[in-house]
Amino acid sequence: MTAPLIDPFARAISYLRVSVTDRCDFRCVYCMSENMTFLPKKELLTLEELDRLCSTFVGMGVEKLRITGGEPLVRRGIMTFFRAMSRHLESGALRELTVTTNGSQLRRFAAELADCGVRRINVSLDTLVPEKFAAITRWGRLDQVLDGIRAAQEAGLRVKINTVALKGFNEEELFDLAAWCAREDMDLTFIEVMPMGDLGNEDRLDQYWPLRDLRARLAERFTLLDLAERTGGPARYVRIEETGQKIGFITPLTHNFCESCNRVRLTCTGELYMCLGQEDVADLRAPLRASADDAALEGAIRAAIARKPKGHDFDYSRQVVAGKMSRHMSHTGG
Ligand code: GTP
Ligand code: 5AD
Ligand code: SF4
Repeated sequence: MTAPLIDPFARAISYLRVSVTDRCDFRCVYCMSENMTFLPKKELLTLEELDRLCSTFVGMGVEKLRITGGEPLVRRGIMTFFRAMSRHLESGALRELTVTTNGSQLRRFAAELADCGVRRINVSLDTLVPEKFAAITRWGRLDQVLDGIRAAQEAGLRVKINTVALKGFNEEELFDLAAWCAREDMDLTFIEVMPMGDLGNEDRLDQYWPLRDLRARLAERFTLLDLAERTGGPARYVRIEETGQKIGFITPLTHNFCESCNRVRLTCTGELYMCLGQEDVADLRAPLRASADDAALEGAIRAAIARKPKGHDFDYSRQVVAGKMSRHMSHTGG
């Protein structure tokens, strides 16, 4: 075992998020433009290369792998990769293998994911109204996703719903979404919309619904207890006293959680982003391909971690969008 990965702010990096494809079968309006240009397939790392990269990180102390995209389950052969990663769960090197998905392919893959050692999954869902779902995802069908969630639960997977809080879109559904998650025994986390990617005609300030307002709405009806627990992710949780339900808030805009950041992000072309909200990137594909020996790759990973910035610069507080990233969320997988 090599020395653990520690960044310049003494944060141990134990969590790797891996975007295995930039493609998706949806076109959520806050994530992608209608006419996205995707990477040519030949640019992608092969599944074997992704395996080698992830395994190198695991050897350097990464204990949690989250597979994202785009939509990770639309990458051809992706179950081969999950199967391969399950060996690190079996060896005890990896504590958790998990996935963030739009849910569309879960009917097909949930049982196999569970069989590969996946225990919890995050499903992105912003509304329970079929017409609104079709509008926000442009290409998605709500019933397909709901069926996918059912398949995941049947397979024994624990499901967390991620909902992007969008002004004028799902404000009126706050209590419906919470009640549905409580009924289905799923966790629920709200996310503030971040200024990622140029989407054409959108206006982030129009979309932005600060979670402190959402929380205040919840508090009008329920008693909220702040919980101290952390999952290692950016979410902060409250418990609703009346129902016992737990609700998470991911608030990159109203509260900065970067001081406890434990993660870096790998793209499907082998770039390593040290922060979701900064442009700095390290190329791992060149050292990966230059030699079958992992020494150069490990050196490149350490050099990258040594440059991990303190945090992002997203800011809407001056009525303009500051700290905006040109790349889309699907590039780094959130
Ligand atoms: P667990 O805590 O393991 O349940 O997961 P998570 O919250 O880390 O992962 P998930 O994929 O559910 O993340 C939800 C969303 O939170 C992401 O898609 C991002 O939008 C946001 N997010 C996650 N990590 C970061 C981060 O480091 N910085 C910022 N600004 N946002 C993040
Ligand atoms: N701001 C916040 N969350 C976003 N997501 C995609 N784009 C954005 C954005 N601009 C979320 C998706 C999904 C996760 C991968 O990232 O809804 O839950
Ligand atoms: Fe696809 Fe997720 Fe982006 Fe929607 S938010 S377009 S489901 S990657």
